Formats: sequence, C-alpha cells, structure tokens
Amino acid sequence: MAKTNIYLFANWKMYLGMAESEKLSKDLVKFSKKLPKKIKMAVFPSALSSTAVVKNLKKTPIAVGAQNIYFEDKGGFTGEVSAAMYKDIGSKYALVGHSERRHLFHETNHEIRMKMEGALSIGLMPVLCVGETAQESAYEPVWAISKGLGVQEQGKHCDATEANRVHGFIKKTVLALTKDLEPIILFGGSVRPNTAAEYLKQSNIDGILVGAASTHLDSWKDIVHNAC
Ligand code: PGA
Repeated sequence: MAKTNIYLFANWKMYLGMAESEKLSKDLVKFSKKLPKKIKMAVFPSALSSTAVVKNLKKTPIAVGAQNIYFEDKGGFTGEVSAAMYKDIGSKYALVGHSERRHLFHETNHEIRMKMEGALSIGLMPVLCVGETAQESAYEPVWAISKGLGVQEQGKHCDATEANRVHGFIKKTVLALTKDLEPIILFGGSVRPNTAAEYLKQSNIDGILVGAASTHLDSWKDIVHNAC
C-alpha cells in the first residue's frame, strides 16, 4: 500500500558551518517548490545556524529541528540551548538521545526522558533515537552510522528487511504502551541515494534520518527523488 506520508529528515550534525548552512537552506527553497505533499522534510542544523535556517525556510514546507535540547527553559546552564528557545525561533522538531549524544557525551536514559518531557511540554515534537551497538546485537544499527562525510566513511549497510523487522517490533512495543498513538518510525544509518528507496519500500519504515548524505545538495536531491 502506498504511504500517505514519507518523512525525510536531514541531520546536518556538526558538518556544516554557518555560511554552508545558509547556502544549503537557500538552495533547498527552490527545490522545495517541487516537493510532493506526501514528503515531510525537515532539516536539523547546528544550534548556531538554526535561526538563519528557520528564516530561510519560513515560506517553504520544510521544517527545522534541533539536534539536541536542554529540558529546563532558562537558567544557569552554560552552553545549553533549551527546547523553549528552539520553539521560540520556529523549530518544530528536536532529536532526543541520538547515539552520538549517548556515546560521545554520555547522555543517560534519565536525561533523555527529561528531554522528551521538556520538548513535549512546550510543543516541540521529539524525535527519540534508539539503537544498538554491534556488540549489543539488538537494534538501531549504530554500527551503520557514517563516521564522516566521504563515501568511504560509510558505516556497514543494514539490510532493509532486517531494519523493517526491528521497526515492526518497535512499533508494536510503542503501540502497546500508548494504545491510540501510532508511532512514526524512521530508519537511520548510512542511508545513501542508492539505498533510500529500498528502506522506504518496507512496510514499517515511515521515513529516514540521514546524516552525511544530507549535507550535499546533490545527494540529498537524489535521496528525495528516489523516495518519491
Ligand atoms: P549517517 O547518520 O547517515 O551519516 O550514517 C545517520 C544518523 O546519525 O542517524
């Protein structure tokens, strides 16, 4: 069955500086005019670039999200940016608990829960990231996440049917907890223009969260085309 909505989320991580983020967001404005309605696109720029990117994309259907948030609204929390501040500039989403936050910055499940609650309380839609390392052999293929921008830096490829199986399990687990809330589940881990369609074809995969390949206009355009 054809999907009503396809979520294409671009996590720019710390790959793009201010000028590069400005340029890519301006290039996306023109591109967005041809986007089919079913494509729900969002970009996640750095904290520093978020205001400019929101401004550039204001009149487009492309939403903007935060890569990370702090759950307190305001206060003495040096270096942090709150969910409320992101909401205030016009962000719609917030990544919460990305594996790079968990592994490199030692974010705990408790902090992640606080961030989920912080985002929900002010109307920022959280995108909760869950995963596994290769050693844990459970899920999100953290082992499949790119280590850099180059194609040679691509992580190991996760088979689309295996991703679909795990998505089915996650969907069932969330549905059992929430009953009436149908979760939207995105796949992330070295998605490239030549693999996007295969993931999106799977019944339990509602969209993709793309890192490295979303930071180049050409590869991102190819991913979107292949997704349509
Ligand atoms: P990648 O990142 O596409 O660069 O592997 C994906 C992610 O971090 O979710």
